[in-house]
Amino acid sequence: LSGERVIIVANREPYIHQRAADGGIQVSHPASGLVTALEPVMRACSGVWVAHGSGSADRETADAHGRIRVPPGEQSYTLRRVWLSKEEEQGYYYGFANEGLWPLCHIADTRPLFRAEDWRHYREVNRRFADAVCEEVEGEDPVILVQDYHFALAPRMIRERLPRATIITFWHIPWPNSERFGICPWRVELLEGMLGASILGFHTQAHCNNFLDAVDRFMEARLDREQNAVVHRKRQSLVRPYPISIEWPSQWAQATPPTRECRASVLAELGLPPDTLLGVGVDRLDYTKGIEERLQAVERTLERAPHLRGRLTFVQLAAPSRTVIERYRQLNASVEVLAERINQRFGTGNYRPIILLRAHHEPLSVFRYYRAADFCYVSSLHDGMNLVAKEFIAAREDEQGVLVLSHFTGAARELTEALIVNPYDLEEASAAILAAVEMPREEQAARMRSLRAFVAEFNVYRWAGRMLVDAARLRQRDRLNV
Ligand code: G6P
Repeated sequence: LSGERVIIVANREPYIHQRAADGGIQVSHPASGLVTALEPVMRACSGVWVAHGSGSADRETADAHGRIRVPPGEQSYTLRRVWLSKEEEQGYYYGFANEGLWPLCHIADTRPLFRAEDWRHYREVNRRFADAVCEEVEGEDPVILVQDYHFALAPRMIRERLPRATIITFWHIPWPNSERFGICPWRVELLEGMLGASILGFHTQAHCNNFLDAVDRFMEARLDREQNAVVHRKRQSLVRPYPISIEWPSQWAQATPPTRECRASVLAELGLPPDTLLGVGVDRLDYTKGIEERLQAVERTLERAPHLRGRLTFVQLAAPSRTVIERYRQLNASVEVLAERINQRFGTGNYRPIILLRAHHEPLSVFRYYRAADFCYVSSLHDGMNLVAKEFIAAREDEQGVLVLSHFTGAARELTEALIVNPYDLEEASAAILAAVEMPREEQAARMRSLRAFVAEFNVYRWAGRMLVDAARLRQRDRLNV
């Protein structure tokens, strides 16, 4: 990747500058799988990341064009911030992207909301980001990576301005089947927008197939099933699976103290005795993550295994997310009530089976928990990939710790040495938690070694490299055809 100049457009920025209580400026890393994956790629390449400037001190740290060199201290690429008004943020981000497309694409029983006003903002904001991208390009045939469901329209908008650009769109969340997708009033516009891309990437072949079915059903376009491509307006868009991953070796794993230290400090902070069996969950507080089902599985484990009462503690790190949206507020309240109920039921003296830490945790802090834990439970009801699963593996240089992983993640297709469960099935999930806490060290090591070998090889550089190789082939073909 080194030397490749790319322009990424992704809503979430990799570094957020916030005004702290003491008046100083703090930089934080957001809880976002997209950022986890793409930031190391940008550090390896050079170029520009165009994102929404969302921090309270973002403006004062950027120049007059919204540009700032990052990472702080290292300065290997440019972050170009786009400023949004309150109305734009409401309509484009909270409204169409997160109350419309997010529930549309995830099977998690939350109904999508489609409002004409949100759609208008979504279109306008896509246009503003496309403009910002065009201001950042050098030359006529740049490589532009358009990321995620916030920017379904941007590929076509960019294509109209830069016909020779190589535009790679990656959709970080699942793509639904066409019955489901068809309920979106702007289904054709979304597909048209995306087909401005040269390459459309999804995590799995199943999501590619769903996308191709939607094109087949709702558009006048030619499908090339052999090539996995769509031909529309005389242009071809390849539709391919590129399972995303994390950096390897992980900068955070390298900076985290050894297991023994992490365990001692985490247990001390939480006021837990040394023989605690510790489970960990790490998520944004989002209804797709199955946090309630996860806590219920811990409860069921304690019902089934009375000898674990007083010993098994599950700590859930839950980063507040999209809190303007009513459904997220409901979830926040219901998770709290559930944790409290389980704690009342099984808590004694100082013992509380569930520790709910609702706060943003910086990656270094998250890695300490990964390393301190006996097991990590990822219980998503539906998830494109899920990089928490891969980060837990990266953290476990000691080759210990068990990953319990929902079948409904993209990761479950790859991480077959995890204990794969249906998170809705509390019998199965609690049996896996029991198996995890009882698993002999040798078996833990054998499974973890194999998981680590997989993630080490199929890391995020491989993910980006495969897309860029496919893009280079297209560019060469275009050059020959000129
Ligand atoms: C998912 C999305 C990302 C997003 C992340 C965090 O992983 O695919 O695009 O950045 O959630 O959500 P947020 O709304 O805080 O950016």
